[in-house]
Amino acid sequence: MKSTLALALLAGITATAQAETALTQGDPAKAQPIVTQVCAACHAADGNSVTPANPKLAGQHAEYIIKQLQNFKAAVKDPNKEGVRKSAVMGGIASTLSDADIVNLAAYFSEKTMKPDSAKIPYDLGEKVYRGGDAGTGVPACASCHGPTGAGIPTQFPRLGGQHADYILAQLKAFRSGDRANDAGKMMRTIANKMSDQEMQAVANYVSGLK
Ligand code: HEC
Ligand code: HEC
Repeated sequence: MKSTLALALLAGITATAQAETALTQGDPAKAQPIVTQVCAACHAADGNSVTPANPKLAGQHAEYIIKQLQNFKAAVKDPNKEGVRKSAVMGGIASTLSDADIVNLAAYFSEKTMKPDSAKIPYDLGEKVYRGGDAGTGVPACASCHGPTGAGIPTQFPRLGGQHADYILAQLKAFRSGDRANDAGKMMRTIANKMSDQEMQAVANYVSGLK
């Protein structure tokens, strides 16, 4: 199973979005009972959670979902291990999932359609940072990795478009403090370190309205 996953991830680097689903070989139908019994309460059955602290999973790339669930799971075994993602809520839940469950759940949610939040007043600053970064402080344009419409780029870069602003802001702060440290090559930690609170809030609002 491990090598299948590694292969899928490796091959996925050059894969198109269409091939992405096939590579993970998840079966959404097999995920349905787990979704209904466990995930739906917080993320909604269609992955469009209505609670700002719970991220939307709809339309998120399957590989990214798999990585996060494995990272949550690994944090419970060893919170000090490199690349784990600590979460009081998700740790216990991810620990109950098998590798097959994880792949099936990723297939299930990645096939759903993201329903963006009704755009909060998009600050000009948010758009500026998202599209052009901040040359003064060395913050790169978010669009260069997360895409012009926030759709992300499989397999490495997650979708951000339409996500709850509160969740985005919380993740940026967690990357800055190092509470979230599962980003390869410290990509997000390095960026968040250079951002002001104002930039984080503005870009979070902007992203939540992106379609
Ligand atoms: C009790 C509420 C709750 C339940 C139940 C729950 N989640 Fe979560 N989930 C959360 C919260 C809160 C976060 C954000 C954690 C953080 O702040 O890092 C999260 C984060 C995630 C993420 C990371 C998303 C991202 O954008 O990085 C994934 C993937 C995920 N959950 C999948 C699931 C799946 C699959 C299930 C069902 C097996 C599930 N969750 C059940 C509350 C929940
Ligand atoms: C060099 C590429 C790169 C750039 C530029 C970049 N990101 Fe990221 N970002 C990543 C990667 C890679 C991840 C996934 C980390 C992981 O595997 O958990 C990520 C994850 C995130 C997440 C967590 C998403 C979730 O669902 O939990 C947020 C929020 C985020 N980025 C916001 C931003 C913002 C805002 C900017 C611009 C200021 C930005 N990123 C610029 C590479 C980048």
